[in-house]
Amino acid sequence: MRMAEERSDAIRQYLDQQILLLSTLSGMYPVKVIGNQDHLDRLFKAINERGHVVDLQVIDAKGVQLSYVGPHRALVEGKKYHDAEWFNDTLIAGKHVSDVFLGYRNIPHLVVAVTDPLKTYVIRATINSEKFNALLHQAQMGHSGDAFIVNPEGEFQTPSLQGEKELTSAERELLVHHEGTAAQVMGSYLYTTRWIKEGQWMLMIKFKVSESLGSFNERRNNSLMIIAAATIIFMFSAVLLCRYMVGKLERSDRRRANMDQQMIQVEKMASIGRLAAGIAHEINNPLQMITNQAGWIEELLPDEDPALVKNFDEYRDAVSKIKFHVTRAGTITHRLLGFSRRMTTEKECIRVNELIEETISFVENEALSNKITIERELDENLPTTMSDGPQVQQVFLNILNNGLDAVDHDGKIVVSTRADDASIYIEFSDTGPGISPEVMKQIFDPFFTTKEPGKGTGLGMSICYDIMKKLGGKIDVNNKKTGGAIFTITLPLRKMGEPGQEEEGTFGYEGAIS
Ligand SMILES: Nc1ncnc2c1ncn2[C@@H]1O[C@H](COP(=O)(O)OP(=O)(O)OP(=O)(O)O)[C@@H](O)[C@H]1O
Ligand SMILES: [Mg+2]
Repeated sequence: MRMAEERSDAIRQYLDQQILLLSTLSGMYPVKVIGNQDHLDRLFKAINERGHVVDLQVIDAKGVQLSYVGPHRALVEGKKYHDAEWFNDTLIAGKHVSDVFLGYRNIPHLVVAVTDPLKTYVIRATINSEKFNALLHQAQMGHSGDAFIVNPEGEFQTPSLQGEKELTSAERELLVHHEGTAAQVMGSYLYTTRWIKEGQWMLMIKFKVSESLGSFNERRNNSLMIIAAATIIFMFSAVLLCRYMVGKLERSDRRRANMDQQMIQVEKMASIGRLAAGIAHEINNPLQMITNQAGWIEELLPDEDPALVKNFDEYRDAVSKIKFHVTRAGTITHRLLGFSRRMTTEKECIRVNELIEETISFVENEALSNKITIERELDENLPTTMSDGPQVQQVFLNILNNGLDAVDHDGKIVVSTRADDASIYIEFSDTGPGISPEVMKQIFDPFFTTKEPGKGTGLGMSICYDIMKKLGGKIDVNNKKTGGAIFTITLPLRKMGEPGQEEEGTFGYEGAIS
């Protein structure tokens, strides 16, 4: 149906164009000009660049030919047309489009004629209808399809694609006037017909039903395939996009969680530090008083007569216990103050290996008595760095003490050093029980200890953490696959005069089981 409409539109446009061409000429030139042979010759050349027009003829209102350009000049010379049907038709209707006929040269022709607005003459052109036929044959007709134009008598106006010379008797029955486009199945063909040129021609398009359905099915299958392919591509890209987004979200979540954890730790340290400083300060004075008073009692006791003082020995023991515990409390407050003090880090050139040796010497006796060996795997070419020696040593000492406590007896602590372009790495690994996930979470918290009351303050690791942060390095803790804990200190490599990055270095613990 659509094809019939498209084709009939194309044909109508083509015929309209030819009529418009002649109407333009007749509107522009009066009979005197256009009836002049020379003038018509020039006009013909101008309008016929593509060779569509076979000839051009001007006839006055009485039917006498005035001028002619074309191959049949001799034949039409002096010819009178006043009786010709097409001529009178043109004068009455203003325009005329003939049927297609084969001219002398056996080329299908079509005559188009119009009259000027004053009806003083008729201009007639013979159009080569091959171009016009091509309009029909452009249509996709399939192998056995056909498209042609017939007049009401059933005569072919354009050649049949299938080489048919005349309509079958069944096809002739379709030559009844109807409006718009009609479709009808006859035998194995589907016929689409449409009257064109004001009912003077019928455009007939025929398809084999099987082929038309075939092409429909083919088109439907193609559409289905395109839809399926588009769906697959869409789903595939949606899945990829989703995965990418989820991955990105996960990564950013992890990063944020890590940052949060570090921030929490920093805040915790800062607030506890402030609190601890205040408390330690307040407690230190009374402690001092207690020590003084206990000392005073101790000094006075020998003046007493043990025979008169019933619990003399008890008092002396109690005083020494008071002194012992006050000293212990003093140590705690001292550590607390050290921890919370905004220490100005002294920058000096430190030799890490030497610091390690020195620190080990502090604990070696204790290690020996518990049958714990301390092995060194020190990089001899370790570079020096600008840092704070006593504070670094404090970190080493805290870690070594923890190691000795964890191993308890009969075991080993290995201290190793290495460096790359950016940092020095110091590892302390021990053969202790390792660190459980719960302890791992809190190991850097101030006052967190698993040791018996009186044995540990729980400040060692938090002090290490704080120091490493101030020195621009970090402290990581992991468990070894073979058991035991491993602490890694990362100390930034800084040369003399290089600005430090205190408080800005990375810090924190990983808590991963490696
Ligand atoms: N090498 C290690 N192996 C196993 N657990 C450890 C090790 N080092 C530290 N820990 C755990 O971490 C806890 C906290 O250590 P931290 O040094 O902060 O405090 P502490 O050793 O208990 O007390 P202090 O340092 O005052 O003696 C310890 O109580 C212990 O449970
Ligand atoms: Mg400790």
